[in-house]
Parts: sequence; C-alpha cells; structure tokens
Amino acid sequence: MTISKKIENIIAGSSFIRKMFEEGARLKAQYGADNVYDFSLGNPNVPPPEKFNEILRETVSTCGLDDHCYMPNTGYPMVCGSVADYLAKEQQAPVTAKDVIMTCGASGALNVALKAVLDPGDEVLTPIPCFVEYKFYADNHGGVLKTVATRPNFELDPDAIATAITAKTKVFLINSPNNPTGQVYSAESLENLAEILEQKGREFNRTIYLLSDEPYRKIVYDGVEVPSIFAAYPNSILGTSYSKDISIPGERIGFLAVNPAATYQKDLMAAMTVANRILGYVNAPALMQRVIACMQGLSVDIAEYARKRDLLCNGLAGFGYEFIKPPGTFYLFPRSPIPDDVEFVDALKEERILVVPGSGFNGPGYFRIAFCVSDDTIKNSMPGFERAINKFK
Ligand SMILES: Cc1ncc(COP(=O)(O)O)c(C=O)c1O
Repeated sequence: MTISKKIENIIAGSSFIRKMFEEGARLKAQYGADNVYDFSLGNPNVPPPEKFNEILRETVSTCGLDDHCYMPNTGYPMVCGSVADYLAKEQQAPVTAKDVIMTCGASGALNVALKAVLDPGDEVLTPIPCFVEYKFYADNHGGVLKTVATRPNFELDPDAIATAITAKTKVFLINSPNNPTGQVYSAESLENLAEILEQKGREFNRTIYLLSDEPYRKIVYDGVEVPSIFAAYPNSILGTSYSKDISIPGERIGFLAVNPAATYQKDLMAAMTVANRILGYVNAPALMQRVIACMQGLSVDIAEYARKRDLLCNGLAGFGYEFIKPPGTFYLFPRSPIPDDVEFVDALKEERILVVPGSGFNGPGYFRIAFCVSDDTIKNSMPGFERAINKFK
C-alpha cells in the first residue's frame, strides 16, 4: 500500500454516515428518490435568508482587484470587527476584532484551535455522544480524544468529568446545542464545568481550555437560550460557522474567538493565526467573509425546523419511540427499541428509512434522525417507522 496506515484505517472504519449516504444513493436509484426517506445527513434544507442572496449579488458586483488578493491570516479587519461587535453582545464580553480569526467553517476553526494548543499526547476530553470527526481532529494535531459519559438526558455530568480529567487533559471540548442529541447545556452546568476546570487546572498546574463548538447556537426552540461560555470560564475559545444557521455549509465560512479574559490571550491569538496559515487554509474565503460581515445576527427561518421537529416528535411518540424533545439543532436522538442500534437501523433500512446508529457517535443504544428534510419526507416515513418498532414489540 502506498497510502499511510493511519489513513488506511480511517478509510476502513469509514463513518456510518458516509456508508448510509452510499446506501441511500443505491436505494434511491432502485426505488426513486421520493420513496427513500433519507435522514442520514445534517445538510440544511431551509433556504438561506433572502438577505443572503441580495448581499451576495451586491458584494460580487462591487468587487475590485484588491478583493481577490491575500489578506491578513486572521481575515479582513473590517469583518473581524463586525463579528466581534455581534459577539460582544452575544457573549456579554468585551470582544474586539483582535480576538477573532475568520476560518474555513467550524471544522477549520476546531483544527486551528487544536493545532495551536496541543502537544503530542495531550488529551482532548469530550462528553459523549459526540460529533464523529472529533477524534480525527485531535489526532491531526498529535492529541488523543478521550470521552466522558453524560447524564441520561445528555446533560453534562460533573462527577464523571471530575474523574475523567487527568494531568494530560489540555482541552475540554463541548458542542451545545449538541449533534447528535439536540441537548443544550444549561448555564448552571457550564458554571459547574468551569469550577471543575479551574480546580483541576490548579491541581495539575496547567491551563485547561474550554473549546466550544457552536454551529447550532441559533437553531433553538421554545425560547431556549444558549449560555455564554465567555461569561462562564475565562480560558475559553469559541469556534463556529454559518454552515447551519445560514444554510451555507459548502461556502466554508466560520470563525474562532478567544475570550479577551484568557490568561494567555495574545499567545493564543498568535498561535492560531499561524496555524490558520500553515494548515493550508491561509485565510477564510474572501467573498464569504465580506458577505457574512453584513449578516450578523441573521439566521434561516427557525420556525421551519420547529415545525419539522414537532411533526417528527409527535409521530414517533405516538408509535412508542422514546426520546428527549431536542431543545436545539435539527437532530433527534431516540432510544433504539432493541439494545443493538445497528440492527434496528437495518430494520429501518428495510422500510427505506435511512438514519445513523448511535454507535457512530459513541452513543450505542440510540440512533440519529437528521430532520433537515422536507415535510413530505417526514410524513411519508411515518408508516415505516411504525412498522419497524412493531417488529420488536
Ligand atoms: C458538531 C459539529 N461541529 C462541526 C461541524 C462542522 O461544521 P462546518 O461545516 O462549519 O465545518 C459539524 C457539521 O456537521 C457539526 O455537526
């Protein structure tokens, strides 16, 4: 083999989501796209706000030569400033342009942050279930992903966290609203987490960073608010994107912000600026930077996702599926009616319903339904969901 052993292993263990995607393509070719209910991918299906198209057209029509050139690795100062003004209000912290780095999406942001802080063997601790890619991101930069259990409702479990932190823990990585559970961590649980990180940091004589992955922050329901991590913990770093809340994941635009109160704020910013360059991103896409500078605070119509969530939850609850109604994201994470989630996902596949086993997210015994699909897909899938659970009653 000419490719690296590590990549060979990654390909061999290729994520459930991708496998499901390929299976979906096969079923769609066989039965027609309308007869396959594909809930496997978190690809937003609510259109971007109308303003996005207006601003995009205007930005393109006013582009000059300079607008296609290299720029500071952190991004256009004007764009960082616009993001910072919004963040200062959102995070209740004195964020300015010098605290912000524009990145290629949230995954670019996380990779830049991890590259900046990890030494070989450092541990990144994350609550499970969690986003599948985290283990690769930690490994990309010499780190090791370690996991810690959450409570039965997928909230943070302070006792488990205190036990799981070791002398090697450098980063505590959270994602709220959470993919795959839809849970949003409360202000109280962030306060408890902050206390533990402070205390363990003193015990092990090192700074433990709180890295918060927040691409679903604006996709919340029933008046739920996502608490500020900057207010909760000084050594915090926020990574996010406009992929989900503006429905532009292909445009690869997001940002990193370092808490102005962080102990080594300037060093962190210097390290991340260099990491953004040497990881090969160089800078975030220029056109999209200029567009999102004019879109601060906007989002897709969240009521659309709320309607889909209700359609799905009401239908599934009626058949006896058990789940927490997600306060955020466009994911539902029901308990599998049988212990083997992969077997149940196969039973759903028999009904031409594609979902992802919880095992793919370190959450065995559950499965993930991405409800960023048409209302018809949800409605037409209901008889299949009912037949599948009834097989195991
Ligand atoms: C929890 C989480 N983090 C990060 C990402 C990556 O987002 P982006 O496309 O902005 O890089 C995703 C995408 O699905 C996600 O669900």
